[in-house]
Amino acid sequence: MQHSKIAGIGYYVPKNVYTNTDLSRFMETSDEWIQERTGIKERRFADRLGETTTTMGIEAAKVAIARAGITAQDVDFIIFATLSPDYYFPGCGVLLQREMKMKEIGALDIRNQCSGFVYALSVADQFIKTGMYKNILVVGSEKHSFAMDFETRSRNVSVIFGDGAGAVVLQPTQKEGQGILSTHLHSDGADAEILAMFYPGSHANKWMPEKPGYPAQELGGLFMTTEQLESGAALPYMDGPAVFKKAVVKFPEVIKEALAKNNLEAKDIDLLVPHQANLRISQYVQQLLGLRDDQVFNNIQKYGNTTAASVPIALCEAWEAGKIKEGDLVCLAAFGSGFTWASALLRW
Ligand code: COA
Repeated sequence: MQHSKIAGIGYYVPKNVYTNTDLSRFMETSDEWIQERTGIKERRFADRLGETTTTMGIEAAKVAIARAGITAQDVDFIIFATLSPDYYFPGCGVLLQREMKMKEIGALDIRNQCSGFVYALSVADQFIKTGMYKNILVVGSEKHSFAMDFETRSRNVSVIFGDGAGAVVLQPTQKEGQGILSTHLHSDGADAEILAMFYPGSHANKWMPEKPGYPAQELGGLFMTTEQLESGAALPYMDGPAVFKKAVVKFPEVIKEALAKNNLEAKDIDLLVPHQANLRISQYVQQLLGLRDDQVFNNIQKYGNTTAASVPIALCEAWEAGKIKEGDLVCLAAFGSGFTWASALLRW
C-alpha cells in the first residue's frame, strides 16, 4: 500500500511581537512569572483588522505548496484545523479555497484544538493511503488575540497563547518505510469543561459544573446579555493545573504507543516535535522518555502556544534550521482541550 509523505511545509507568524513585559502593562503579571511557569518570552499577535486565521493559513499554505513543487490548482483536498475560525460558520477551509482560487475541491474543517493538526494529518494520511487524493493541503492556524481578555482576571490564559499558522502538503510515496508510519488518536470527554469556551453554544448549562471559577450562566446561546458579556462568560476558561497534570501523562503515553506500533524505542527518535503547550510540559515529557536536548524541538519561547498551528510551525522551523534530514525519525505529539491527544511517527 502507498504511504503519504510531507512534500512541502511552510509557516507564517505575524510581525507584531508582544513581550511578557508588554503584557504586564495591561494586567498584573511579570516576565519572571511567565517565564518560570511556561518558558514563554514573547508571542506574535495578528494585525487586528488586516489578518485573520484564514489569511495567515494562506501565507503558510503558499510556502508549503511552492515547496511541494505544485500550484494551488493542483491541491485536491483541504483540511483546516483551528479553534479560532474567521466565522462561527462556515469554516476557514472554504475561505482559503476561495482566496487561493482553488478548484471546487472538498474542504474539511477540524475542531480539535491543540491536537487539531495531528488529527488533520491523520485524516489526510487515510485519504492518501486509499488513493482518493494526491495533493492534500493540511493547515493549522489560529488568531487567538481577537478573543483574549487582557485584564488580570484572565491572566492565566492570555499570557500563554499566540497567533500564527503552519501548513503541509501531503503526497503519496511508494518508497517503503518513508513518510507517515502511523498515527494515533485519542479522546476523553470526562473533563471537557476544564479547558473550554462556552459561548456561543447551545449548552443550556447542561454540562457546566458548579465550581468556583466557572462562569455561572443560566443559558447558552448565540446572543449574550450585557451582564453576561461583562462577567467574562464569553472568554476561554482553563483550569491550568488540571490540564498540566493530564498532559504530562498523555503525551508520553501516546508517543510510546506510536513507538511500540513500529517496534521502535525512544532512543530511535531523531526529533520529537511536541505541541507547544508549555515548556515545562515538554521538559517533563523529555525527561520521562529519557531524550537528549537535541532530540526535542521547542519554540514556545518565541511564539507562545499557537494551538493547532504549533506543531506545523515548530516542524517547519526545525526543518529550516537543518534539524531534520532525509531518513530521520520524527515524532509529532499533541494534547489539548477535549481532552484530545494524538501522535504521528514519520520517516522523513
Ligand atoms: N501572572 C502572575 N500570576 C498569575 C498569572 C500570571 N499570568 N496567572 C496566574 N497567576 C497566579 C494565580 O492567580 C495564583 O495566585 P494565588 O496563588 O494568589 O491564587 C498563582 O499564580 C498560581 O496559579 P496556578 O494556576 O496554580 O499556577 P500554575 O503554577 O499552575 O501555572 C499555568 C499556571 C497556566 C501556567 C499552568 O497551570 C499551565 O501551564 N498549565 C497547562 C496549561 C496548558 O498547557 N494549556 C494549554 C493546553 S494544551
